[in-house]
Amino acid sequence: MSNSELMKLAEESMKKAYVPYSNFWVGAAILCESGKVYTGCNIENAAYPATICAERVALFKAVEAGERRFVKIAVCGGEDAKINDICPPCGSCRQVLSEFCGKEFEILLTDGKNIETHTLGELLPYSFSF
Ligand code: THU
Repeated sequence: MSNSELMKLAEESMKKAYVPYSNFWVGAAILCESGKVYTGCNIENAAYPATICAERVALFKAVEAGERRFVKIAVCGGEDAKINDICPPCGSCRQVLSEFCGKEFEILLTDGKNIETHTLGELLPYSFSF
C-alpha cells in the first residue's frame, strides 16, 4: 500500500475522533506485514489522563487481531479536523510502538500537502526495553 493510500485511511479515521475537550482530531492507520491495515482515532475522557491517542487505538486493534509485525503508520491531525501541520506521535505512543516495531519502522506525517517519512529509530533514539 502506498504512503498516500495509508494516509487517506488515517484521514478517514480522524473524522471519527471523540474530542469534546481538546477539539484536536487525530487519525492513524498502521500497515501490518500481513498486508492488513488497522485504523484509529483519539478518544477523550472527562478524566483527561484516561484519553487514548489515535496511534495506540490503531496498534492495539491490530495486536488484538493477532498482528505482531508492522511496516509503517500514517498519522494526521489538527483542530476542527483540519490538517494544517504535521502531528508527530507523542512520547508515550513512540514508546508503545517500540514494543512491537523496530528502528526501521516508518512513521508518515502530513501537513495536508506533503507526506514526510521518519523512522522510529529517528523519533525515539536510545529507547527503553528489557
Ligand atoms: N493525541 C493523539 O491522538 N496522538 C498523539 O500522538 C498526540 C495527542 C490526542 C490526545 C488528545 O485527545 C489530543 O490529541 C490533544 O492532546
